Amino acid sequence: MQVTVYNCRPFDEKELFVDYARELGMELVLCNDAPDLNNVSLCRGSKCVDVITSKIDAPLIEAFHEQGVEYITTRTIGYDHIDLEAAKKCGIKVGNAPYGPNGVADYTVMLILMSIRRMNAILGRTNLQDYTLMGLNGRELRDLTVGVIGTGRIGATVIRDLSGFGCRILAYDLYEKEEVKQYASYVPLTEIWKEADVITLHTPLTEDNHHLINQETIAQMKDGVILVNTARGALIDSDAFIDAIEAGKIGAAGLDVVENEFGLYYYDHKSDILKNRELALLRSFPNVTVSHHMAFYTRNYVETVVKDSLMSCKLYMEGRENPWEVA
Ligand code: NAI
Repeated sequence: MQVTVYNCRPFDEKELFVDYARELGMELVLCNDAPDLNNVSLCRGSKCVDVITSKIDAPLIEAFHEQGVEYITTRTIGYDHIDLEAAKKCGIKVGNAPYGPNGVADYTVMLILMSIRRMNAILGRTNLQDYTLMGLNGRELRDLTVGVIGTGRIGATVIRDLSGFGCRILAYDLYEKEEVKQYASYVPLTEIWKEADVITLHTPLTEDNHHLINQETIAQMKDGVILVNTARGALIDSDAFIDAIEAGKIGAAGLDVVENEFGLYYYDHKSDILKNRELALLRSFPNVTVSHHMAFYTRNYVETVVKDSLMSCKLYMEGRENPWEVA
């Protein structure tokens, strides 16, 4: 029972893969790189391949098929990087590896707290031994109204966590969830724009909500509103957002995701000239905390996706019911 694992990170995944494979009685071929037509021969003898978010397009899928691959598992929740149509044509099944919402929810609460307490500016000064107070006065969460947009797995967890801080919580989703109502009141979006001191985004990016935060919606928000985004960058129109930061309309922000981040993150670009001007501007503001799409990245996440992706291969190869199979 052999699995070929691509994009295997030597610093946090490799040891776990080796341990779990031993436990499950599997053999592994480990490759640090993303799969491509040059290294596809590493799959020979493996019915299953284990990947992350690199593009798995039709030519690569056909090449997998020629090597005898029958099942692709991705160590991510999303699987839109895999050409499902091509996989179906080749008779290849696809599985994902969902992980719990707590890591992203914790990170969101952290960004909210960092934003209301001006932590980016505080750390900037502390690092320069500037121990002054002026301009660093924060706010207390219990005095604020937080608007949560998207009350799925992550949004609902953020709401539950925030309830402990004693703040007023407003929620918006296309579908209301009973369990959320014990902590938050569902209201129309216009009410969130009008009432919220802090707005946090937790919806997937769709055609309908692309640039949900734009010039028009920002204009309806409170002066000094704080925005937190751990969902997808393109939910926010960066130009309108930067204008609003410069005008002081937006008081602070915590952004784990930005528009056009694709291809940038998880590589060392410190000597490169980057073309993402929005990111450069956002990073320059003392009241904006920017991180590089990190919210998911916890020990629990790594253990879960490594273990579940291997388990899913095992279930596939044994012809057993497989809860991770998605297509
Ligand atoms: P989920 O699918 O459990 O919840 C999404 C919720 O958004 C659902 O309740 C859905 O009804 C709602 N929704 C969809 N379209 C909407 C719209 N136009 N307006 C209002 N509500 C809408 O997803 P989950 O697991 O809570 O993840 C939320 C988002 O967080 C993901 O889609 C992803 O973009 C992002 N994410 C970010 C990570 C990070 O590391 N920064 C890691 C994992 C997810």
